Amino acid sequence: MPAPVPAPAPADVTVDVRLTPTDLRAALRRDARVGLTATPKWMPPVWFYDDRGCALYDQITRLPEYYPFRTEQLLLEEVAEQVVKVAGSEVLVELGSGTSEKTRLLLGAMDRVVGVRGYVAFDVAEATLRSAATAVSQDFGIAVHAIVGDFHEHMAAVPDGGRPRMVAFLGSTIGNLDRDQRRGFLAELQSLLGEDDRFLLATDLVKPVDRLVAAYDDAAGVTGEFNRNLLHVLNRELDADFVPDEFEHVARWNPEGSCIEMRLRSRQPATVALPVLDLAVEFEAGEEMRTEISTKFTPEQVGRELDEAGMAVVDTWTDPAGDYLLTLARPVRGGG
Ligand SMILES: C[S@@+](CC[C@H](N)C(=O)[O-])C[C@H]1O[C@@H](n2cnc3c(N)ncnc32)[C@H](O)[C@@H]1O
Repeated sequence: MPAPVPAPAPADVTVDVRLTPTDLRAALRRDARVGLTATPKWMPPVWFYDDRGCALYDQITRLPEYYPFRTEQLLLEEVAEQVVKVAGSEVLVELGSGTSEKTRLLLGAMDRVVGVRGYVAFDVAEATLRSAATAVSQDFGIAVHAIVGDFHEHMAAVPDGGRPRMVAFLGSTIGNLDRDQRRGFLAELQSLLGEDDRFLLATDLVKPVDRLVAAYDDAAGVTGEFNRNLLHVLNRELDADFVPDEFEHVARWNPEGSCIEMRLRSRQPATVALPVLDLAVEFEAGEEMRTEISTKFTPEQVGRELDEAGMAVVDTWTDPAGDYLLTLARPVRGGG
């Protein structure tokens, strides 16, 4: 008789919903009204991430062209224990945590080095967050506090907990924010950090344009499908009638912004109805709508932006090829 499979440990998960489906729909309406009537048209990247978008992002992370995920994972495998030793944190907070896959490397290192007391996972994608929180809680035997929220609006919901925290922002998600958004985000984060808290920031670094473009325009077309997922979300949530296949995926380097821009280009003239907004949006043939930026940094730029936000770099780590950067920072208060 085969040995019985042990039952998984019970999960200890608290879910704090700061963004209900109703709030999400209202925010999507606001963004669609502003972005689709702007010239040029644009939409914020947060709307890629419904369940299908999260699953597509997960596929992207495994594509041969998509070096950032692999590189960050290998780097964390190499240096997670050093990071945790330098940080001395007992609680891990992660913004934009997604599937929490790379997080496990940090949690494992914390477990070995200082003992991990808890994990706070924060993401806008509720279903992905709930399943990641349950799996982490069971696998590490720790309490997980999951927050469904928008890190531009609900960061103050992160609990203090009374122990030194490390707030991780992985996946170079900060690159999806423009300069003003980064300024606001980093300043708010700094104001929420206690003296013993640390901020771990992952950033993709500037590199040859052909490698960058290939990473966002893969041969299998998964990134294109991820990009067009925005149109599926608009169709489902706002009753719009986009024909996603009529929009071509574009990934282009913008040297002024030091970023890859993802766009959707209308193959032909189109009129898209959004009855929920009482809006009809015209696209000319070849017209492009910007859907994401992915900023590429230099270590100096990362240091400057942290400094402007009142944070000092404690230590940095890069992979041997210098493709990716992990920066550990601490808050600086009044002259300290
Ligand atoms: C580029 S993925 C990175 C996922 C994961 N941290 C990693 O490193 O693989 C960005 C994640 O941030 C989440 N996200 C994007 N915008 C957000 C926002 N405004 N507030 C909260 N989460 C957000 C997405 O749902 C997604 O899980």
